[in-house]
This record gives sequence, C-alpha cells and structure tokens, in this order.
Amino acid sequence: MSRALNKTLTIQTSPPNFGGSSHALLTVPLTNLFPADIALVIASADMWQTPLCAEEEALVDGASAKRQREFRAGRNAAHEALQQLQAPQQAILWGNRREPVWPSGYLGTISHCHDLCVAACAIKGEIVGMGVDVEPLSPLPEGVERYIHTDMEHSLLEQLGLPQRLIFSAKECLYKCYYPLLTRYFGFQSVSLAFDIKNQTFCFKPNVDCEIEFPVELSFHGHFQTSDTHLFTAGYLLRN
Ligand SMILES: CC(C)(COP(=O)(O)OP(=O)(O)OC[C@H]1O[C@@H](n2cnc3c(N)ncnc32)[C@H](O)[C@@H]1OP(=O)(O)O)[C@@H](O)C(=O)NCCC(=O)NCCS
Repeated sequence: MSRALNKTLTIQTSPPNFGGSSHALLTVPLTNLFPADIALVIASADMWQTPLCAEEEALVDGASAKRQREFRAGRNAAHEALQQLQAPQQAILWGNRREPVWPSGYLGTISHCHDLCVAACAIKGEIVGMGVDVEPLSPLPEGVERYIHTDMEHSLLEQLGLPQRLIFSAKECLYKCYYPLLTRYFGFQSVSLAFDIKNQTFCFKPNVDCEIEFPVELSFHGHFQTSDTHLFTAGYLLRN
C-alpha cells in the first residue's frame, strides 16, 4: 500500500443545522480507522444539501427531507473519496439489499447519523471489503441491546466500560463489510465480538448456530475510535 490519503485528515464538518438546532463543530483526527491508502471523507456542510445526479436523486424521490439530506451527504462524500482515488465518476446506485454499487475496480462504504456522515473508498486489490459506521455516543434505546448483544458481549461492555453502542456499531460495520461478498443477510446474534481497548481494534467469531460461512481466505480488521460526541467503527477485509 503506497498511497497516503487520510493520514492527516480531520473532521472538516460544520455539521448541518436541522430545524434550527445547533451542533458542535468537531475536530477529531480519524487516523486510526483505516489504512492510509483508503480515502476517507467526512461530509462537509454543503454535501448534505448539494443535489446529486438524476439517477441518484431518483433513489430517494419521495423520501423524507431528513433521509434525502443524509443520502446526499453520503453520496457526495463518496464521490469526493472516489475522486481522491481518481476513479471514474458515475452514479452510485444500490444493489439488491441497498448496498452501494461502486465503479468497477473500486469499493467503499457509507454511514450517516443525524449530524455526521462518513464515506470511505479504496482501489480493489489487497482490500476486498470495507465497512464503516458512525453513531452518536448516546446509549441505545432501552431494551434494544438484548437483540444486539450476546450474553458474553453484555458482560464485556460492563467490565470494560465501553460505550454502549460500540457493539451495535461494530456489528453494522461488519455486516457492511461482508454483505457485498456474501450477498446474504446475517443478524446481530450471528457473531460475537472481542475488543482490544489499547489498540482500539476488534475482531469477531461466528456463534455456534451461525449459518453463514465467512470465507477463511479473508481476514477481517476492525478499528474503533470515539470523539466527545460520536463513535466510529471501521472494518476491512484482506486476502490472507
Ligand atoms: C445495512 C445496515 C447495516 C445499514 O445501517 P443503518 O443503520 O441503516 O445506517 P448507516 O447510515 O450506518 O448506513 C447506511 C448505509 O449503509 C449502506 N448499506 C445499506 N445496505 C447495505 C448492505 N447490505 N451492504 C453494505 N452496505 C449497505 C448504504 O450505503 C447506506 O446508505 P444509503 O442508503 O444512503 O446508501 C442496517 O440497515 C441493517 O440492515 N442492519 C442489519 C444487519 C446487521 O447489521 N447485522 C449485524 C451482523 S453481525
């Protein structure tokens, strides 16, 4: 890996102002999430509004204004990331299960929450899968965690004092990473996660009743990072 795209990247957002509510300006370097040759872009304020091409706009025609803003932020950030990689600019449409379809020879991933959006792209080669997720640091709605956490993960969170959404976020990131390769849905109880706090990394193992066969020739590398207000997880797949 020779390129160095995101080494000095900081969140350049003035987060969008929804309905008059104010948002803190974030200045957190996101250097731990992906290798340096992956283009990582945090959507800037104008990306939440700038219209996309007609084919992309058609995907969210009739959706709520909030959804349209998030979609624009994600697609505009992804186009910026692809441009950094000198990829051909073309519409990023959806596959069968809403996964973005990237230009041939490239891959990427998108995540948005109400006030932050991130997209990351790479040239296909050593890296064959990618996932990213951004979440507010606030806890999950009460009761949701029992659908997300295995018993082991629940005690892990308590022991280590990790943010409650970390497991949720890491599992969404994992799903985005594998789905385009497996083209199979798998739920939150399919795998169990383990975290290395010092290095801010995570890995997973399939649970005993998991029916998904994760390709043994690929290795998953998961990273996480927090700011004062948000939690980020990122994962990528390398050929062994
Ligand atoms: C797909 C999913 C992970 C997306 O998460 P989300 O909470 O909707 O929101 P995020 O903003 O983080 O991510 C949305 C983006 O993910 C991408 N995405 C959606 N489906 C995807 C899929 N099947 N594969 C890869 N990426 C996908 C899209 O780019 C989407 O943005 P867009 O609709 O604007 O294009 C979630 O909706 C889901 O289905 N989760 C259940 C499966 C799961 O997580 N299992 C855990 C296994 S351990």
